[in-house]
Amino acid sequence: MTFAMVRDRDSEAEPAPRALALLGVSEQGGRDEPPVVEGTIPRELRGSLYRNGPGLFERGGLRKPHLLDGDGLVQRLSFADGVARYQNAFVRTPKFVAEEAADAFRFATWSMRRPGGFIANLGGGAGHSQAGVTVYPFNERLYAFDEVSPAFGLDPQTLETLGEESLGDPTKEFMIKAHTKFDPLTGEWLLFGISHGAAMKLHAIIHGADGALKAHHVIAAPRQVYIHDFFATREYLIFVLHPMWFSPWRFLSGQASFIESLSWKPESGNQVLVVPRDGGAVQLFEAPAAFIWHALNAYSENGEIIADFVGYDAPDHFAPHGALFYTLMQGRMGVAKAPGMLRRYRIDLAGHSLREEILDPGAHEFPMIDPRVAMQKHDVAYLSAGEHAATNGGGDRVDHLWNGVKRVDFIRGKTQIFDFGANVATGEPVFAARPGGDRNDGWLIVQGVDGRSERAFFALFDAAHVDAGPVARLHLPHSLPISFHGWWKAD
Ligand SMILES: [Fe+2]
Repeated sequence: MTFAMVRDRDSEAEPAPRALALLGVSEQGGRDEPPVVEGTIPRELRGSLYRNGPGLFERGGLRKPHLLDGDGLVQRLSFADGVARYQNAFVRTPKFVAEEAADAFRFATWSMRRPGGFIANLGGGAGHSQAGVTVYPFNERLYAFDEVSPAFGLDPQTLETLGEESLGDPTKEFMIKAHTKFDPLTGEWLLFGISHGAAMKLHAIIHGADGALKAHHVIAAPRQVYIHDFFATREYLIFVLHPMWFSPWRFLSGQASFIESLSWKPESGNQVLVVPRDGGAVQLFEAPAAFIWHALNAYSENGEIIADFVGYDAPDHFAPHGALFYTLMQGRMGVAKAPGMLRRYRIDLAGHSLREEILDPGAHEFPMIDPRVAMQKHDVAYLSAGEHAATNGGGDRVDHLWNGVKRVDFIRGKTQIFDFGANVATGEPVFAARPGGDRNDGWLIVQGVDGRSERAFFALFDAAHVDAGPVARLHLPHSLPISFHGWWKAD
């Protein structure tokens, strides 16, 4: 067990374990180094893991208040002939370049208002992309995304920033979001965006395998909320409007940062919009309240849509102030009571009904599949996992952040877990397929940081034998901040 957090009134004052505090320590960028390898890197593993996440949290003596808010640090861990190379670089957005020159924050980001008080923040405070949430290789280019436009293009070899990328219909006004889907059967790239205003609109965007824009549907949303990810099947896009309400008035009047403009109202439940990929009529379903960062996958089976995800009864780790993701920036523990349960929606389109099932009530995040299975029936899920809720000596419930990897086999009903142990923080397990192998034959690559050595590592698992532990660990001579998402590109 690790990252024990007692749920009592004093928990906010407890110092955070070093591994968690290191998630909010800025990185210098510009690394290019060989990791120290423990174990053996399989020679068949050829290609690059790309990752993105916030990497710079302070300038000019000012520190970002929230762990999820920093300039994008793109990483590359590449493998060839059993040898690994590690590189990283900041995405040189106009925001990054201007603030680097000024040695000060100049722009509003999603947890921080622009310096200068509410006058400077009227109209939302000129929020700028930090390009620090996801990174995807597509057609010989890397794309780094924030949750505000634009996306940025990077060189996949050098990680050099190439400039802004236009995705979707350039005549429409919207913010491109960070999570996208690839259809492995058509090569299409599915993206989504949001526009806020008097009412919210969803933008469903499809680019063909050649990169050309194929569709850009605009869908009226029945409520104004924050959403982070979506689902796609071969036929449908599914948007879950959980009750994380966004107040444009508080944001646009300059009184609150974007996160401070959000409020969780579980009494209003989830709304689930099912949108045909080819742009037909939208269906709306009601579901119990669950906060969703990430979808696992969705597919159609026997007249139903099956949509699996990690969902929380409340996003209490994220917001408001006092949440763990705020307090970690001051090296303290905070609130993170609700575990990220593995959940399933069963949506019957003909019968117009939706049922939610809890597949695993443990603590999870960063759900992953073999990307070749996307939008089809997935037999296996890989997730970041914490220990299940337990009790401490005093009988209080204790929760855990992610310190392990879980493999859930839905067909055999078997779960494998590998626990990295105390004072280690690990992230998303990215699937790298074995060349010529069947579905789910491959490796998982997990980034972590060890609070005892204060150093980052990557662990390489045989995806079929997670419980056997890593086949190799690649150690770096420094720590790394939190990294959200990655994608594998085979050579
Ligand atoms: Fe995400």
